[in-house]
Amino acid sequence: MNRLMLIAVTLAAILAPSFCASEPAGTCTPDNCKIEDNCRCSSGSGPFEGDLTEYPQLVTLAFDEAVTDDIYGLWNDLLLSRSNPDGNPIGATFFVPHEYTNYQRVNDLYNLGFEIAVHSVSKNPLQSYWRTASESLLEQEFGGQKQIISKFANIPEDHILGVRTPQLQFAGNDSILAYRAANLTYDSSWPTLPSKPLFPYTLDYLSTQECNLGGSCPNEAFPGFWVLPILDLHSADGGWCNTLSSCNVTGSVDDIANWLCNEIDIVRNSTRAPLTLSVNSYWFNFTENSLAGLTKCLDTLQESKDVFLVTQKQVIEWVSNPVKIEDFKTDDAEDQQTNCNQYNCLLDKGGEKRYMKACAPCPAVYPWLGNPNGDKP
Ligand SMILES: *[C@@H]1O[C@H](CO)[C@@H](O)[C@H](O)[C@H]1NC(C)=O
Ligand SMILES: *[C@@H]1O[C@H](CO)[C@@H](O)[C@H](O)[C@H]1NC(C)=O
Ligand SMILES: *[C@@H]1O[C@H](CO)[C@@H](O)[C@H](O)[C@H]1NC(C)=O
Ligand SMILES: *[C@@H]1O[C@H](CO)[C@@H](O)[C@H](O)[C@H]1NC(C)=O
Ligand SMILES: *[C@@H]1O[C@H](CO)[C@@H](O)[C@H](O)[C@H]1NC(C)=O
Repeated sequence: MNRLMLIAVTLAAILAPSFCASEPAGTCTPDNCKIEDNCRCSSGSGPFEGDLTEYPQLVTLAFDEAVTDDIYGLWNDLLLSRSNPDGNPIGATFFVPHEYTNYQRVNDLYNLGFEIAVHSVSKNPLQSYWRTASESLLEQEFGGQKQIISKFANIPEDHILGVRTPQLQFAGNDSILAYRAANLTYDSSWPTLPSKPLFPYTLDYLSTQECNLGGSCPNEAFPGFWVLPILDLHSADGGWCNTLSSCNVTGSVDDIANWLCNEIDIVRNSTRAPLTLSVNSYWFNFTENSLAGLTKCLDTLQESKDVFLVTQKQVIEWVSNPVKIEDFKTDDAEDQQTNCNQYNCLLDKGGEKRYMKACAPCPAVYPWLGNPNGDKP
């Protein structure tokens, strides 16, 4: 054996363990997976015992559109001035995609106490793109967007923890590997049928959740990484749906409000698994009374003593420490304050022009995949 080969063989032996560190996930049991170790099995039963009605029903309003001025105004009108049963302002989670986003408005949302999370850089509309993307491309999509948000909306990286993949499409283990490489700690992309309302869980062990959307779901062990299942709602035509706009519910303001509040009541009356309601503004364009119906249902919730609108981050905190209603406090997010020196940039994106409002000096080019800082001309 010549020396070069010997070095190669030795190197391979050293590197091997880290390359093979990924293993198929094993079966989860309450003995091998404890919440004290930041581990929870995928399960339809809650983290609490005793009388269901003593515990809060958590609901997260989730948004994944570009944060433009118009969209910001819309969500502001819908969300501001609402409070939870504990008197604190409600929470919500924004999964922010890059293109057309105004990062000054993202900074505003953060300062208002909302959670800022990652959607992707490109928000490519093709499902096949997300199903077949390599891990390194996904790192550029998710890790890159985390960097862009942090830099241009001036939000600390360690406050950006969540991610939703576009079209809710996973590329198997590679999606979670890419999330982890970006220090993201939870996913909100995995829908589950109304008949199987799962609580949030970690990927230390094999998920029992069905993989229904055509992509492949992760089945490697990812210790401490959280999945917040999206509980599907019942659609108008007897099926199920994972965003309010795809449920095809039509009718009067009351019809839409009653449908939505009834969907919340079904879960609230049965297991109190946390609910994620994904809202897209195009729903308001093509379904008459949808915005008024949504508003009316949210108004009704204001009168309840046990339904809390919170961020997804807080859902994980509660599942880890499932306190009763009287001890539950909505995150007041008072520490969540960061300044914004405003820069209005006109940038080049491969020959096209893009306006980008930012809280950092204008970069050389429009930030994009592989160039999140926009500093490579
Ligand atoms: C995920 O990784 C595990 C362990 O390496 C492997 O057995 C499995 O086939 C992978 N799953 C997918 C969907 O690629
Ligand atoms: C992830 O976090 C670790 C530890 O805090 C840090 O060293 C690393 O640079 C971070 N990686 C990314 C891509 O942010
Ligand atoms: C909603 O209606 C569209 C168009 O009619 C249909 O393709 C879709 O499957 C429906 N969605 C659900 C959840 O039933
Ligand atoms: C939930 O329970 C309340 C009180 O028992 C009842 O009035 C309501 O009809 C129930 N709603 C659903 C959707 O199960
Ligand atoms: C929806 O309506 C708003 C306000 O009327 C408009 O600005 C926006 O372009 C419309 N969006 C779509 C997708 O049609």
